[in-house]
Amino acid sequence: PLMLLLVAVLGYLLGSVPFGLVITRALGLGDLRSIGSGNIGATNVLRTGNKGAALATLLLDAGKGGIAVLIARAAFGADAAQVAGLAAFLGHIFPVWLGFKGGKGVATFLGTLLALAWPVGLAACASWLAAAVLGRISSLAALVAAASSTIWMLVLGYERMMFLGIILTLLVYWRHAENIKRIKAGTEPKIGKKG
Ligand code: G3P
Repeated sequence: PLMLLLVAVLGYLLGSVPFGLVITRALGLGDLRSIGSGNIGATNVLRTGNKGAALATLLLDAGKGGIAVLIARAAFGADAAQVAGLAAFLGHIFPVWLGFKGGKGVATFLGTLLALAWPVGLAACASWLAAAVLGRISSLAALVAAASSTIWMLVLGYERMMFLGIILTLLVYWRHAENIKRIKAGTEPKIGKKG
């Protein structure tokens, strides 16, 4: 219990580092929150036109979820790893440093999955990629990847992760409410285009 609380706090703190904002500020690319969708994630960093910054944001936002899981698992085992993953994800979408107004959690979700169960993580990444290649819309690909992840857990034999998978998927959908409206209206920008 105390151990899980510690894991949750550390996971949250790791997840709450808004790498998109840190990187774009360091490179003088402007305030991400007044660009494109206003989101702090890699998709919106790409709208600054800096591909390297977008890639770094993707890898670091994914990496913080993955690292939180790996540390927790090494120290305290599988249950702690799930708690750390959820906490890092919540840290990304509700960072105390930004008045709890954070991102949509997609990269951190994928990084967390990769570390919790790499076959599920790889399948979810492949689902994102396939949807992105077909539709060229980042948010739509994220919605497909999130929904697919729980199915992948079932198919690949990771039933014990499904509760976490459903919670994360619901949160990803909730964070994409505006994107879903734009997708329905046909106004959601394609990857790399300014929205
Ligand atoms: O990772 C978030 C992505 O799914 C959507 O980002 O900036 O288009 O709202 P954005």
